[in-house]
Amino acid sequence: MDIVLMGAPGAGKGTQAAKLENALGFKHISTGDVLRAEIASGSELGNQIAAVIDRGDLISDEMMVSILKNVVSGTDKNIIFDGFPRTVAQAEMLNNMLVQLGRKLGKAIEIALPEEEAVRRLSSRKQCKLPSGEVRQIGPDFTLADCQAQRGELFTRTDDTPEHIRHRFSVYHKQTEPVICFYRSTGLYAEVNGNADCQKVFDDLLAVLKQ
Ligand code: AP5
Ligand code: MG
Repeated sequence: MDIVLMGAPGAGKGTQAAKLENALGFKHISTGDVLRAEIASGSELGNQIAAVIDRGDLISDEMMVSILKNVVSGTDKNIIFDGFPRTVAQAEMLNNMLVQLGRKLGKAIEIALPEEEAVRRLSSRKQCKLPSGEVRQIGPDFTLADCQAQRGELFTRTDDTPEHIRHRFSVYHKQTEPVICFYRSTGLYAEVNGNADCQKVFDDLLAVLKQ
């Protein structure tokens, strides 16, 4: 069964999806990471995507779904979708894609976090680019010391400036919050409190997945 992990920018989707991947063997698909990898490849598509992400806006639904389809069809594992769907149209397209691929969505879980706390977390978030090109986020499972020890380079995401963070929240309220109502109406929706330490949020997610 696949899972959708929802939440505002900075709610902890990426952090928790990585933990679930390690613990339960899911395939973690972060659409933000997929898009940033396309940008890093230097392709023409990547250049178009960079302009949109740098504004804090959303990639078009059609482009997002066509990029995602290749990633989804390449795995037999259960998937955690992180940052997708972000519009009701994407949620409908996801349903169709899963039916076509013979997959099933089991839960759509929102990590709920007050905006103030999310802004605080995003304002201090750091990434580490390893010599291999792999990007790791600094957090409990990969610390600043790990980054230094592996001769990584610290950087900040281009959309983590105060101005971009504000814009991402306005996009979230307008375009992504309706997805929560969409999943409430399907009975797949569950919420966990993101305003707790990483382990507590993780335990709560595991409890929801066992229901
Ligand atoms: P994306 O990369 O998905 O960004 P986002 O949704 O804004 O979410 P973030 O990745 O910023 O936050 P997160 O919830 O993963 O939190 P994290 O775990 O990092 O998307 C970026 C852009 O790509 C979009 O703006 C859009 O342009 C485009 N895009 C992506 N998907 C798209 C789609 N489907 N359609 C169209 N366009 C799309 O945690 C944040 C920080 O908090 C970290 O520093 C972490 O260490 C820390 N932290 C986490 N948990 C805790 C905790 N419990 N306590 C304390 N600190 C914590
Ligand atoms: Mg993320």
